[in-house]
Amino acid sequence: MCGIIGYLGPQDAVGVIMDGLARLEYRGYDSAGLVVVDPQGEFAVRRAQGKLANLAAKLVERPVSGTLGMGHTRWATHGRPSETNAHPHLAGEVAVVHNGIIENYLELKNELAQAGHEFSSETDTEIAAHLVSQQFKEGATDLEDAVRRALGRIRGSYALVILDRRFPDQIIGARKDSPLVLGLGQEGEYFLASDVPAFLAHTNRVVFLNDGDLVVIKGGSYQISDLAGNPQQRQETTISWSPAMAEKAGYKHFMQKEIFEQPRALVDTLAGRVKAGEAEVFLPDLGLDAEALKKVRRLVLLACGTSWHAALVGKFWLEGLAKVPTEVDLGSEFRYRDPLVGPGDLVVAISQSGETADTLAAVREATAKGAQAVAVCNVVGSTLTREAAGVIYTHAGPEIGVASTKAFTTQLVVLFLLALHLGRVRGTLGDERARALVEDLVQLPGLLGQALEREAEVVAVAERFAQAQDFLFLGRGLCYPIALEGALKLKEISYIHAEGYPAGEMKHGPIALIDQEMPVVVLANHNEVLEKVLSNMEEVKARQGILIAVTESDNTAACSQAEMVIGVPPCPSLLAPIMLTVPLQLLAYHVAVLRGTDVDQPRNLAKSVTVE
Ligand code: AGP
Repeated sequence: MCGIIGYLGPQDAVGVIMDGLARLEYRGYDSAGLVVVDPQGEFAVRRAQGKLANLAAKLVERPVSGTLGMGHTRWATHGRPSETNAHPHLAGEVAVVHNGIIENYLELKNELAQAGHEFSSETDTEIAAHLVSQQFKEGATDLEDAVRRALGRIRGSYALVILDRRFPDQIIGARKDSPLVLGLGQEGEYFLASDVPAFLAHTNRVVFLNDGDLVVIKGGSYQISDLAGNPQQRQETTISWSPAMAEKAGYKHFMQKEIFEQPRALVDTLAGRVKAGEAEVFLPDLGLDAEALKKVRRLVLLACGTSWHAALVGKFWLEGLAKVPTEVDLGSEFRYRDPLVGPGDLVVAISQSGETADTLAAVREATAKGAQAVAVCNVVGSTLTREAAGVIYTHAGPEIGVASTKAFTTQLVVLFLLALHLGRVRGTLGDERARALVEDLVQLPGLLGQALEREAEVVAVAERFAQAQDFLFLGRGLCYPIALEGALKLKEISYIHAEGYPAGEMKHGPIALIDQEMPVVVLANHNEVLEKVLSNMEEVKARQGILIAVTESDNTAACSQAEMVIGVPPCPSLLAPIMLTVPLQLLAYHVAVLRGTDVDQPRNLAKSVTVE
């Protein structure tokens, strides 16, 4: 996810752009850049790797000015974080900034190269600049026409802001599957941005653009149309948020925002990797071809914390679908037991930040012994991604809340994709079953949305148990790691002691903990072990434990046993771990809010544990 802002108006564009980027930095912060059309009608571009402060420093050294311009703060998807890859990207008189993924960029790049275009970056976005520029050579009558023609060739997701230094009274915005908002300032003043915070200090009058909209700002007015040129009427809205609230898009905390971003994050993580109705999975950055994957003797999943919970779920899928023996190990433990790992083993290191010292050390131990390593990571260019032989990125966008939410569910999606891919390559997963599983995956974002709609049921549980001293979370099979995750979420942001446990293990000791004060959250969705889970619920109930069932509304057996129910939509049991995580995240969040803890920055914690 990236942050973009465009400006046309009477003010100094640089100041507006830099202020806007500062309010969008939560959307991406590995590099930044801006372009203005200077008083001589030339492009003045400044880019910097790293934080926005680095770009600001460059502007102090070499100031630029103009009243038309745009800026970008990057969350890299294609091409490592670098000054060269930072937006804006230029081609002749055209400049673009982009948030999204151009899925057919390689095809377009080859076509443009044959037409004589030369490229300076590794990004998919640069293609868009050259594509617009090329349209003028192919008969486009003006900038709007050139942009419309170019967008007709692009597949994927985009929020684009485009300008051409020959037309200083124009700026164009277009969106498909990535947000773009039009801000209406004083007379003749317009803003285009990924999110309202970018320009809220200047105006609270906004027009939210819809997917497929193209907005042309020209000669002091604006016109919205679809790609075919049909005018579109969009409602002007007045925003009541304060700028600070707006960075959280109206949510109270980043964690809450990120919980609700999960359907979008799953869509972005699936984009370009699966197609509905097809059996194949595309993981071009994995770094291992089919032949190499066939030779893999064993998988070793290494991770810490929440990412380790993802690994525990991944083991089920990798062994079940790809029939590859899979071990799971904690990054903080692995290297201290002289692990038996070596050639033929494929390490899969899972890390949101890509900077967790324990995970990095474990990977180095394994590769020093001859194993290969690939990364599942959310931060492009992080240490782990640079040391691994290949990467499968979770396109969750920056995760600001210390408690991991959307990064976790997208890690699970990536591990499921890997299991499908390995199953197809190694011949353990037939066409029909693979196609059905891809279809289930494609439906998953919608199921998460339905789970989020049941938030009120979670709030009711949180209100009743916010002062509890202890919590137990129980699950079996694929859901046991989700019980662990639910417990971790609760303890790390509400500071209540909580334990996740395999439901079948309760009778081997922990059941001694059960009394009428103990809330016990049980993952009791329809699956192969439901009967066993129902028995475990009986055992808890027989000892006056307070049962809270997370289950489908039609699951009468589980609902009748429980004192409180958190309803979830029916979901294919193989993918239930991803969907069941959502109510547990919400439970931890609402308990923490009721307890008044610092939800986004809980005590004693850090977002990335870069020390051993
Ligand atoms: C998750 O809520 C925690 N903040 C923590 O357990 C985290 O998952 C762990 O530190 C690993 O971080 P990583 O995914 O960035 O490697």
